[in-house]
Amino acid sequence: MKTVDLAVQSQNIRDAAARLLVEHFDEPRGWPSLEAAREELVGVIAAGFARAMLDDDMVVGWIGGLPEYKGRVWELHPLVVHRQYRLRGIGRTLVKLFESETADRGALTLTLGTDDDSGMTSLSGVDLYADLPRYLAELRDLGRKHPFLFYKKLGFTVTGVMPDANGSGRPDIYMSKRVCR
Ligand SMILES: CC(C)(COP(=O)(O)OP(=O)(O)OC[C@H]1O[C@@H](n2cnc3c(N)ncnc32)[C@H](O)[C@@H]1OP(=O)(O)O)[C@@H](O)C(=O)NCCC(=O)NCCS
Repeated sequence: MKTVDLAVQSQNIRDAAARLLVEHFDEPRGWPSLEAAREELVGVIAAGFARAMLDDDMVVGWIGGLPEYKGRVWELHPLVVHRQYRLRGIGRTLVKLFESETADRGALTLTLGTDDDSGMTSLSGVDLYADLPRYLAELRDLGRKHPFLFYKKLGFTVTGVMPDANGSGRPDIYMSKRVCR
């Protein structure tokens, strides 16, 4: 396995990375078309950076980083690992790569949004406005292993939620992490 900068890869490799966004997201579903995924990749490379892991020449996962707040904050977006390569540490390795890239660029805070648009967590299907702090404090997975659990393992903290981001009762969960040097 090796890590590469997607900005300088062939169109074939970049297309394979884009295809992961279409075919290897679970819930919520990924990008609607290869064209939309290609545009996403081009946009991430233009605004920030994108790194992939290759097994021989096969793209098995990739991660993007986008600057916010004049580069003090970097958004992790997107992250995807090929289904057949999951639970082998590739996601963790990609996030570590993201952390070192952003530390080198002067980041203080890493951030991300992880959607719950299919009732995977206790933040879905409820009136978050009724008692937001309590809902955040009591956030739990409902059994299908929402990715917020993965990010928690990697040291991210839930910092907020965007109610109805994906439709009524389907929020986006915000998580952040301090950059350590
Ligand atoms: C989320 C995702 C990136 C994880 O990648 P991965 O390569 O399987 O993760 P790793 O093998 O590096 O896992 C690191 C740790 O997190 C745990 N983990 C991984 N996915 C998890 C999940 N969904 N729920 C709970 N724990 C999880 C692993 O068990 C491992 O724990 P350990 O170190 O105690 O053994 C991958 O499942 C994926 O691409 N999902 C579809 C796209 C997606 O949801 N992206 C995130 C959108 S915000």
